[in-house]
Amino acid sequence: MVGLPARGKTFTARKLVGYLSWLGYPTQAFNVGEHRRVTVGPGQSHEYFDPANEDAARQRAGLAKDALDDACRWLRQAGRIAVYDATNSTRERRRSIRKRAEAEDFELLFVEIVNDDPAIIEANLRETKLRSPDYEGVPEAQALADFRKRIAHYENEYETLGEDEGAWVRLRNRGAQVVINRVYGYIVGRVVFFLSNLQVSDRPVWLTRHGQSVFNMQGRIGGDASLSVSGAEYAQSLAAHVRDAFPAAANLDVWTSTLRRTILTAEPLGLQTGSWKALDEIHAGACEGMTYAEIERSMPGEFQARRRDKLEYRYPRGESYLDVIHRIDRVLIELERYRTPVLVVAHRAVLRAMVAYFQQLPIVETPHLDMPLHTVIKLTPTAYGCLEERVPLAPQVEN
Ligand code: F6P
Repeated sequence: MVGLPARGKTFTARKLVGYLSWLGYPTQAFNVGEHRRVTVGPGQSHEYFDPANEDAARQRAGLAKDALDDACRWLRQAGRIAVYDATNSTRERRRSIRKRAEAEDFELLFVEIVNDDPAIIEANLRETKLRSPDYEGVPEAQALADFRKRIAHYENEYETLGEDEGAWVRLRNRGAQVVINRVYGYIVGRVVFFLSNLQVSDRPVWLTRHGQSVFNMQGRIGGDASLSVSGAEYAQSLAAHVRDAFPAAANLDVWTSTLRRTILTAEPLGLQTGSWKALDEIHAGACEGMTYAEIERSMPGEFQARRRDKLEYRYPRGESYLDVIHRIDRVLIELERYRTPVLVVAHRAVLRAMVAYFQQLPIVETPHLDMPLHTVIKLTPTAYGCLEERVPLAPQVEN
């Protein structure tokens, strides 16, 4: 990461770690500020960040190197992608990172966050920095004044990325402008694509499974069955709930899969809906339409293999959870980009994958998340993570 303090580097780093881990790439952030707070304790005033303060500058360089060492060690051992979250605001600092990456044979991408919109910076300061352990117990006005001086120290020596600094992406004013330099390759390209679409927003995302289907009643998986009587009742409850909880429902975007049970569930909302093939339920291939008991009886090997590794197991001629994650990636990128609230009416496996993304849960937990029928899940992003609220609606049914 490259950027002045309070530009949203840590927010971006956290989203990136969440996204790449969710796609199955072991990814971790190494935050120099965190390392400082653990090693020398929090609470340094702005003087500590003054480049003229030689002792402190030496200590800060040491902390930055320690965090980089940690990142490299982790990459050599277990990791795939390390996000080195620090200001890295001078060419000199970045040159040493490049030297290190070359010596270790790691690919390097700089992600520069530039903000010259005072309103964004102010919001960022208030939302994140004032709550930092660095300012615990410090009156707000004093904390703000001190942090502004800290920023000024960095501004004095800040150097933006140059074309000769290899692969980088520069995101200006929350994606209003994206500049890309020498970016090639799949993962790096994916990172850049994700970052270009990332918004900082607190608009909620609502998720629900379809109403109970005839197949759900029979314990059969997959298929394209219609709603049961209870499922149709849930569709009515959902519409009433959305009208109550979201008075401006006309501004709500509703996304369904292409399967009948989600489209019928969304119908009573009376809103325009978009249907995504990518939101269709995990495809059970040769097992579509069977009950779990039938699979266990007629394909015991398959049944056991899925029990052993539900994340990677792929149904014969069907999909695995990992396949589902990769196919709904595009839906999530669209959701990140959207500024208006969205209600997604989809399926158990698909919604597990979505919740795992928003809550940044370990990927192995995805196939086991609780995802009941007839329940609305409201996810509200905050600077620190995602708030989750679950509202069960009538009629409650067996899952
Ligand atoms: O039973 C409903 C259902 O949506 C099936 O269509 C799908 O195969 C299943 O849930 C996914 O849940 P699990 O991965 O736990 O079998």
